[in-house]
Amino acid sequence: MAKGARCMALFFLLLGTAAPAVLAVADGLLPNGNFAQAPGKSQMSGAVVTGRYAIPCWEISGFVEYIEPGHKEGDMILAVPEGASAVRLGNDATIRQTISVIRQMHYSVSFMAARSCAQAEKLNISVGDEFGVLPVQTVYTSTGWDTYSWAFKSRHATVSLGIHNTGVEEDPACGPLIIAVAIKTLSPPHRPKGNMLRNGDFELGPYIFPSTPWGVLVPPILEDVNSPLSGWMVMSDTKVVKYVDAPHHRVPQGARAVELVAGREAALLQEVPTVIGWSYKLSFSVGDAANGCSGSLAVEAYAARETLKVPYESHGTGGSKPAVLEFTAIANATRVVFQSSNHLMKSDATLCGPVLDDVFLVRVRKPAARRLRL
Ligand SMILES: *[C@@H]1O[C@H](CO)[C@@H](O)[C@H](O)[C@H]1NC(C)=O
Ligand SMILES: *[C@@H]1O[C@H](CO)[C@@H](O)[C@H](O)[C@H]1NC(C)=O
Repeated sequence: MAKGARCMALFFLLLGTAAPAVLAVADGLLPNGNFAQAPGKSQMSGAVVTGRYAIPCWEISGFVEYIEPGHKEGDMILAVPEGASAVRLGNDATIRQTISVIRQMHYSVSFMAARSCAQAEKLNISVGDEFGVLPVQTVYTSTGWDTYSWAFKSRHATVSLGIHNTGVEEDPACGPLIIAVAIKTLSPPHRPKGNMLRNGDFELGPYIFPSTPWGVLVPPILEDVNSPLSGWMVMSDTKVVKYVDAPHHRVPQGARAVELVAGREAALLQEVPTVIGWSYKLSFSVGDAANGCSGSLAVEAYAARETLKVPYESHGTGGSKPAVLEFTAIANATRVVFQSSNHLMKSDATLCGPVLDDVFLVRVRKPAARRLRL
């Protein structure tokens, strides 16, 4: 089978009968999303990929290197995980893949990356004219490998997903390494009965690679419509919140939760319609993810004029406690905001923080108000 045909066979999936007969990409790794299919030797010069279509299923431009499993290089500050292949995006380099999607659907993209030599590397991930510039840092895992997420809404049935290194380093070969790219359909956030918040249990979020113990970073995102963490925004300059899963962490409820890893440098928030003068009750769980984050953790919650600091003494072995913040709305929309009070580090010097889950917002019917109506 020709290489092109093999990509197509992998990348189309016939949806169930209830959906229109659209051929769209399936949740999980993109075709050759882990770069396991290598370019032919004739299309490489050393590690440098010379052919535009040399890496099966991908199109490249600029200075792209292909790192085979086991390959070692002196200037690389991080080891590529055993058995994994990587591409390195040098100055102004791009990798791109055309994917079939469902029109008007929201998707999140997760990719695993590490910086190689520069201090501050950034990747611009884009679909059509939507894009996000994500800083690639090495402060969240001890290996330096992190999973980053981004979301888009598909305007067409076929879209081109690109990842571009915006860097301009002295050494053109310096740039982030990428070892895996995956996609996930984001179903519209449900608002469970009784909860005014969307996705308050954080069960809807970006794809987490099953083999990775480090969750997924959700970068600053200032609009909730295109958030990989459905319904939620992350306010920060460069910092993130971490999306964690039950197979590798203790989560207070369900299968997913959020770890507030950046202290006061990142806030997780959601805006909800409210009625001025009415009272509301915001309840949530605060805990630790059993990932060795020990010490005096605390989550601060804000809504309207109220704030609440919820201290949590962590042994780093998992656990949680409930908290409640009551407030009176002072506007027709209220932002509920969560932050970690302080910066915490695990013994391996990576950032960590309290886990937040099970966020519920309800209207409180005050006895006084009821009496008035009688
Ligand atoms: C990111 O990439 C998109 C698509 O190529 C482009 O339109 C946009 O200007 C880029 N943004 C930055 C900041 O480089
Ligand atoms: C909320 O209040 C603002 C400012 O008073 C107003 O412009 C807006 O239309 C209101 N929105 C709703 C949904 O009532």
